[in-house]
Amino acid sequence: MSRIIIVSNRLPVTIKKSKDKLTFQQSVGGLATGMSSLQKENEFLWVGWPGITVDQINSKEKDDLCKKMNKLGFYQVFLSQTHIEDYYNGFCNKTIWSLFHCFTQYTIYENHLWESYRKVNQIFCHTMLDIIRPDDIIWVHDYHLMLLPSLLRKRMPGLTIGFFLHIPFPPSEIYRLLPWRNEILEGVMGSDLIGFHTYDYVRNFLDSILRLRGYENRLGIVNYQNRIVKVDSFPMGIDFERFYNSSEQSKTKQEIKKINKKVKNYKVIISVDRLDYTKGILERLKAYSTFLEDNPEYWEKVIMILVAVPSRTAVTQYQRLKEQVDEMIGYINGQFGKIGWSPIWYLYRSLPFHELTALYYISDIALVTPLKDGMNLIAKEYIAAKKDALGVLILSEMAGVSNEMGEAIIVNPNNRTQISWALKYALNMEEQEQQKKVLTLQRRLKNYDVKKWADDFKENLIKVKSEQQNLAAKYLSPKNRLRIIKDYQQSSRRLFLIDYDGTLVPYHQKFKQSIPSQEVLDTIQLLSQDYKNKIVIVSGREKYIIEEWFKNVPVDLIAEHGAWLKKDSSNWRTIEPLKKKWKEEIKPILELYSNRTPGSFVQEKEYSLVWHYVNTEATFGRRRALELMDSLTYLTSNLNLEINHGEKAIEIKAAGINIGITSYQWISEREWDFIMAIGDDWSDEQIFSHLPDWAYSIKVGSGISQSKYNIHSYIEVRTLLKELAKKS
Ligand code: UDP
Ligand code: G6P
Repeated sequence: MSRIIIVSNRLPVTIKKSKDKLTFQQSVGGLATGMSSLQKENEFLWVGWPGITVDQINSKEKDDLCKKMNKLGFYQVFLSQTHIEDYYNGFCNKTIWSLFHCFTQYTIYENHLWESYRKVNQIFCHTMLDIIRPDDIIWVHDYHLMLLPSLLRKRMPGLTIGFFLHIPFPPSEIYRLLPWRNEILEGVMGSDLIGFHTYDYVRNFLDSILRLRGYENRLGIVNYQNRIVKVDSFPMGIDFERFYNSSEQSKTKQEIKKINKKVKNYKVIISVDRLDYTKGILERLKAYSTFLEDNPEYWEKVIMILVAVPSRTAVTQYQRLKEQVDEMIGYINGQFGKIGWSPIWYLYRSLPFHELTALYYISDIALVTPLKDGMNLIAKEYIAAKKDALGVLILSEMAGVSNEMGEAIIVNPNNRTQISWALKYALNMEEQEQQKKVLTLQRRLKNYDVKKWADDFKENLIKVKSEQQNLAAKYLSPKNRLRIIKDYQQSSRRLFLIDYDGTLVPYHQKFKQSIPSQEVLDTIQLLSQDYKNKIVIVSGREKYIIEEWFKNVPVDLIAEHGAWLKKDSSNWRTIEPLKKKWKEEIKPILELYSNRTPGSFVQEKEYSLVWHYVNTEATFGRRRALELMDSLTYLTSNLNLEINHGEKAIEIKAAGINIGITSYQWISEREWDFIMAIGDDWSDEQIFSHLPDWAYSIKVGSGISQSKYNIHSYIEVRTLLKELAKKS
């Protein structure tokens, strides 16, 4: 069985050195806590940084540490103090973390930090290469290692690589601010499967790869360098049972007793986060202050237990935040406190599991109000720990988790009045209502726990890998060619669906010079003379052109990528009534682009518009095309149109027109015993997907395809068809 190798910047245990002694601590943060609950059950290796730098330990300590850690399944990547300064504190936490959470005002762009990031990703790659085997499944985690997938892919092209981002992926207008935006996107695209917590982040990522790199997707599948890459959302779960049963563990029970004695009859609001500016701690405190100010009846009746876990303390923004939080707590306690009652109880440290879950259990309200958060596991853990189903969750709409926890009271973390109101509402919520909400949420959390999340990711990764194998170029061997010919000879009801441009004739730089040669016409004529054969010529061109070209050959025709069909010498018709009024709105935009882009032109068909840039300088044309795609995506969002970026052309047509559906008119017409479809373009894939399994589908060129076979060029298509025609 394949081994799973997890790789993340931080290992789930952090090594600290004090008074010449090394100690092991549980790492904080959702990645480490969530993933380590999986590690107990599964046999996987974990590669990461142990939290200590090589400068802090001698070689004997290093060896001992390696032995101990390896036994636990951990492989360490040792980094120097300079790396930690420039890569971890620098590029990871002063550039990516802030930018991806949309804190552009805190984001710095420094070349030497980027260089360090690149270097450390290479160090991770080298460490991995010493450990991994070709059949391993590699699961790369988070924003520290976004170059690693493509570094590994370069060294081991066939490797199975998944990447999961635990933080938000920002909208492309924000992402594009990053000077190294292309390198990072290309780095991540080295993966086979790319996962995010929510669809918003998936959409943002797909948007960025389209706008910045020109990579399109179909339902999250991207054709990238002759490989498919899948992008999807996998909302991370928690170890539900562990939290659900925590209040029955003796250590937690004792802790609950202890805390209950201290909090007496106060209503308790819990607030737990790493001390990070994205968590909205200051805004939360201000909202609590507003609540106390507006509701003096709650003085001496309610307390907030605020747990702030020290985090990234070497980074200035975090140091400043610590000062501000300390100051704000001082202000609130000073302003509203009484002898024997402080409105905030402040703990600045990380709590072990039993203390944390005891706090969850005894709290009446959890106030989780990040300004931006990839997921936020605290919200899930709080609900899971409520075995008695009593408690209220107030949750920021900016946390990824809010998509899954609609039963919580959802607030805008910047709206103090709303949070103050939510607190009052929560304090007065009937027990029955609390239980109803908590039970619904718990059912959901139990259903998609961290194990399911990881299994789901793994299954998808394996599936993508096998789809890649199905889609990889499968050149038609002489043996299979002979089999086709033999099948042809033995059959009597044969259907041919043959694409025109790029399949029967080469693409012409001069658009109008693609007229079929006499040789092509003779071959098709010969094939169609056999009464056992039905030939359909499939084209994206206007119907009058294709009709004119094949006027003396008894073939059926499909024009305008499926909008029109002409069957058995009858008149042209559409499959269903189609609209064309939208063209009036879209045509001026395309004309504007033509005027601005030398060599490009607009082609108007009855039910579609095409902007061609085949004669434009390649790089410039591509840049303009991306811009146009971008504008069209927004402008057409409510027009029910489909936009396709094909070979040096952008086509806009009414949604629902599909060459596959149109060709199905023939496929389903009768019981064929031989079907052959040949095409070179994205649109021909739609035909391939409508064919029965036994049919012969052939892709012209080396691209990935659902076809059974690939062949090199239109010349081979002609030879094959000629040979078949001669066998008639
Ligand atoms: N956590 C902890 N001890 C603490 C506070 C938090 O172990 O004193 C854990 C908590 O159980 C949760 C994680 O830290 O699993 C925080 O994850 P979250 O996704 O909420 O935020 P992140 O820190 O990853 O941004
Ligand atoms: C977030 C990130 C993790 C990180 C954690 C703690 O959850 O997604 O990758 O490990 O914060 O941050 P730290 O910088 O201490 O590793």
